[in-house]
Amino acid sequence: MLERAEIEAILDEVATVARPLCREGKVADYIPALAKVPSDRFGLCLHLADGQEFCVGDCDEPFSIQSVSKVFNLAIALEWIGEEIWKRVGREPSGTSFNSLILLEQEQGIPRNPFINPGAIVVVDALINRFPLYTQQLRNMMRTLSGNDQVVYDREVWRSEREHGDLNRAMAWLLKAKGNLVAPPDDTLDAYFRGCSLAMSCRALARAGRFLVQGSGDWPVIRNQDRRRRILSVMRLCGLYDAAGDFAYRVGLPAKSGVGGGILAIVPGVCSIAVWSPALDAKGNSLAGVKALELLVASQISSGHGLERR
Ligand code: DON
Repeated sequence: MLERAEIEAILDEVATVARPLCREGKVADYIPALAKVPSDRFGLCLHLADGQEFCVGDCDEPFSIQSVSKVFNLAIALEWIGEEIWKRVGREPSGTSFNSLILLEQEQGIPRNPFINPGAIVVVDALINRFPLYTQQLRNMMRTLSGNDQVVYDREVWRSEREHGDLNRAMAWLLKAKGNLVAPPDDTLDAYFRGCSLAMSCRALARAGRFLVQGSGDWPVIRNQDRRRRILSVMRLCGLYDAAGDFAYRVGLPAKSGVGGGILAIVPGVCSIAVWSPALDAKGNSLAGVKALELLVASQISSGHGLERR
């Protein structure tokens, strides 16, 4: 096992190498609220299963977790609704961008997986129909999981998503036309956009991801080991949209990214890692974030703490 100081030195090195990639990417600009986020931010938090925590950079600055919220929606849907959710959404990689309409049309309104936008919209639809207070419950769940009462929905991001969400609106109406949306599309979208607008820091997100590291029975989301393993499988195959293959090759961890520049990655049984850097590559993933994870799995921490590809 490495000493704390050795791990800290490695994280500093990872940050030093990865952070400059901020200059090469582009901050999400599909909504004004995200376009103004400074592109030079970089934060990383590694939370080990034994509770030790290591942070570097802007790890306490809240950012918009965007599609990382889709993991939590899926976990809650599996716990509260069960396997029946898979009648409405698949679990295959899509190979297309997260907001593509094409597959949805071709595949009769059954989205390929819960991590592309139409899949997440269906999952949220199922949740709000059974649990009318779902958005409050989700926020409370994120507070509990992260041990942080400051976790909030960012109103400005939420409004911006609603005002500029025409493509998501098109997806929701197509889902409805194909018979795979129960609530009025705007109600489902409002709840979907809320999840996207959750503002959390790397530290809070890494803590919130602990329930995926190992099933201790203490976490309110998933008590079942088998379910945890299944969620991690979907993350592995579908977590980085149409870059999932490249990410698997370079990093090899189950993960979920968001266009806010955050990535939650899990080393089963070992740790939860949250990294954030808002400048994105062409597929919508954080450039410096992916690089940092790649460096981390190749580092000495890897041999000492079992972060090797698994
Ligand atoms: O709905 C959207 O397009 C964004 N609010 C979230 C997209 C994102 O993070 C990537 N999605 N899978």
